[in-house]
Amino acid sequence: MPSSSSSFTIRHASSRDVGHVSDILTESFYRNSDYQVNFLQRCFTDLVYPLLRYGIMLDLGSRFDDKSSCYACLVATHPTNKFQAIASLEICMRYVPVKPYREFWLGRDMQQYPYVFNLAVHPQWRRRGVAKQLLLAAEKTVKQWGFSRLYMHVLEDNQPARSLYERIDYRLHSQEGMVNYWLLGRPKKLLLLKKF
Ligand SMILES: CC(C)(COP(=O)(O)OP(=O)(O)OC[C@H]1O[C@@H](n2cnc3c(N)ncnc32)[C@H](O)[C@@H]1OP(=O)(O)O)[C@@H](O)C(=O)NCCC(=O)NCCS
Repeated sequence: MPSSSSSFTIRHASSRDVGHVSDILTESFYRNSDYQVNFLQRCFTDLVYPLLRYGIMLDLGSRFDDKSSCYACLVATHPTNKFQAIASLEICMRYVPVKPYREFWLGRDMQQYPYVFNLAVHPQWRRRGVAKQLLLAAEKTVKQWGFSRLYMHVLEDNQPARSLYERIDYRLHSQEGMVNYWLLGRPKKLLLLKKF
C-alpha cells in the first residue's frame, strides 16, 4: 500500500512484524488490566504469557508463509518508530451464512467471503483512531480482491469493539453461540457485515 492519513501508516505486515503483532495480540486478548478484581487470573496469565505469545507467533508465522489463499495482515505504525507495529488485523476467506438471522427458515446457505479477525490495538495507542484506519484499509484490500463486503465476529459484551464497528457502519448479520448463551451464560457471538 502503504497509506498514511493522520499520523499513522498502514501497511502489509512482513515476517519481521511477527514478534510485535504477537505481543499486541497476547496483550489485547489474554492480559487483563483489571488488577484488583482479577488478581489471581492476572498472576496465572503472567506465568503462561510467554507460552501464549509463542503459540500465537507460530500460528502467525504459518499464516504468513501460506501463499495459497486470499490472506492479508495489515499493521499500523507511528512515525516515532516505523518498524514497530502498534496495531494489526488479519483478513482471510471464510464460510459465512449468506442469509441474515431473521431469515433462518430459508435455510443456512454458506458462502466464502472476506473476513476480518484478530483486530487489536496496543493498549497504549487506543482511542486515537488507529483501529478505524486499519478497518478502512482492510476494505480497500478486499475491494482489490474483487469483493464488496466484509464480515467479522464480535462478542456481545465487547462494548469498545461494538461501538467502533457501529460507528463505521458494520451491521448485525447473524447471532451465534446461542446454546452457550442459554446454558452457560456466555456472551453471544455476533456476526457483523459491512457492504461497500
Ligand atoms: C476495540 C479496539 C480494536 C479499538 O481500537 P481503537 O484504536 O482504540 O479504536 P479507535 O480509536 O479507532 O475508535 C474509533 C471509535 O470507536 C469507538 N470506540 C473505540 N474504543 C471505544 C471504547 N473503549 N469505548 C467506547 N467507544 C469506543 C469510538 O466511537 C471511537 O471514536 P472516538 O474515539 O472518536 O470516540 C481496541 O480497544 C482493542 O484492541 N481492544 C482489544 C482487542 C479487541 O477487543 N479486538 C476486537 C475483537 S472483535
